[in-house]
Amino acid sequence: MCGIYGYVGKNDAYQEVLKGLSRLQYRGYDSSGIAYFNDGFKIKKAIGTLDNLPQSVNCTPNIAFGHTRWATNGEVNIDNTHPHISYNKEFVLVHNGIIKNADIIKEDLIKKGISFYSHTDTEVIVNLLACLSGKIENRLEKLYKLLDGSFSLIIGYKSGDIYIMKKFSPLNILKADDGIYISSDVSSLKDGFLYSLNDNDLIMITKNDVIALANTKIDFKMHVNKIKEFSLGRFKNYMLKEIFETPKGIEKTYNYLQKQNVRKIFKHFNEFTLIGCGTAYHSCLIGEEYLIKIPKYKVKCCLASNYRVLKKIKRNHLHIIVSQSGETADCIKVAEQIKNFNGKILLITNEETSTMAQIADYKIITRAGKELAVASTKTYCAQVFVFIYISQLLLNKKFTINIKKFINDLEEYINKINVKSLVNKLKEKDKLILIGKDIDYALLLEASLKIREIDYIYTIPMYSGELKHGTLSLIDKDSVIISLNTSSDKSKLDVVKNEIKSRGGEVIAIDEMVDLSIISERFRPIFAIIPFQLMSYYIALKKGFNPDMPRNLAKSVTVE
Ligand code: M6R
Repeated sequence: MCGIYGYVGKNDAYQEVLKGLSRLQYRGYDSSGIAYFNDGFKIKKAIGTLDNLPQSVNCTPNIAFGHTRWATNGEVNIDNTHPHISYNKEFVLVHNGIIKNADIIKEDLIKKGISFYSHTDTEVIVNLLACLSGKIENRLEKLYKLLDGSFSLIIGYKSGDIYIMKKFSPLNILKADDGIYISSDVSSLKDGFLYSLNDNDLIMITKNDVIALANTKIDFKMHVNKIKEFSLGRFKNYMLKEIFETPKGIEKTYNYLQKQNVRKIFKHFNEFTLIGCGTAYHSCLIGEEYLIKIPKYKVKCCLASNYRVLKKIKRNHLHIIVSQSGETADCIKVAEQIKNFNGKILLITNEETSTMAQIADYKIITRAGKELAVASTKTYCAQVFVFIYISQLLLNKKFTINIKKFINDLEEYINKINVKSLVNKLKEKDKLILIGKDIDYALLLEASLKIREIDYIYTIPMYSGELKHGTLSLIDKDSVIISLNTSSDKSKLDVVKNEIKSRGGEVIAIDEMVDLSIISERFRPIFAIIPFQLMSYYIALKKGFNPDMPRNLAKSVTVE
């Protein structure tokens, strides 16, 4: 995870890097730091979000680079915060990725008398580099070979020159009128000429030039990116704003789908594996519910972190990977395995230029609009919409929907949702049970993730019929159980509700708090998840948590 950003040019480099890092903060906000060159590299670091870093320094540097961290190696503290400096102060660097052989290298360096101030693999890199001998170019080439794992690095040398390199972790360089920009994420870069580094590339950036070292061939291509500086408008947080943007996102996704030949993608396939992580996996589960009912097709659903391709992939088998960001490491790893076995991938993503979009054979883009809050909301609904669309096509039915009416109904529905009393009741709870059947169980997995993710409440989603097989033991007069029934059979959960009530527990039926009858059953999952999203949002506020930046999480999980 983490984000790295650098600048060399005529502007105030410290400010440029602060701005750049703010666009990468969705990747992690445990701590951050900036190195700037002013008669040697100076370093500023802070715990928490970028607001805690000094917003200016007492000089106007032309060279700077920084890092926003999501802790993987070593706890969140200043010592572990990047940039890291070598024991002899020769090099300063920031790093994205994970070095697998860091412990072995560290042991070796300690034997040589090097001491360490942090628990990071990054300090191991910078000290290893400092201990290598030869010209800098050769030392960096040796470093590349000695490191096992993934990394993208911005390395500052004591002279003020900067070197960049990467392996299995993205890094980009952009030449603009006012300077050279470096970033781990293309979407954070403005207009200019862009080069996305290949593994093994080695590039030196001086005050005046970009120099390709070793066998690197730089091929700058025009890049136009109107960086959107997002604003909250009338909303207090992005999560709430994004929930309210769901109808627009679905409308745009629908208009996009209408212009694509989606049917053609599926022409040669009748076996599908749906793959994702977290919320995206939950939308796969909903997809499975729709697709499994179509007789001609075989469907299964897998978590990316638990999926391994072990044998030849049949020609009729399509892997459908769902990833909002298109950057999730667990998904990328699976995608690479599928490609190694010559399999075909359809990617459903919200990020058209993401890493996985480059790997996939086919793409469907959800047009939900940029999602900034860590908790996925509108993109989940757009993904579910895409699955409903696909299932209709595979049923050989035309996807007929009065989209204007659909969107109006959804907007009205969201505006009417009132979760106030529920929030007041649930805010003090430290555990919750959610119950439902069939597709509702898949929805509750997502609802439960939202409540755990931003409210820090232990929440168990249960298939309702399973309650009597053990978990009923948890029910007493203090228990509140939330149920969901999106089907038109109103009595579906009656038996289990009575079992709970007989033990003194209270059941709150979400489907009785909202009117799901306004929409056909096929689309109800999209409507039914929204009260849960709003509920988790308001509980977080009540408990004094920031719903946009929950603890220990980041928007894109770019480590396995
Ligand atoms: O970008 P992706 O859709 O691949 O991300 C997958 C999960 O990390 C993500 O959905 C995560 O579970 C969200 N924070 C949930 O709100």
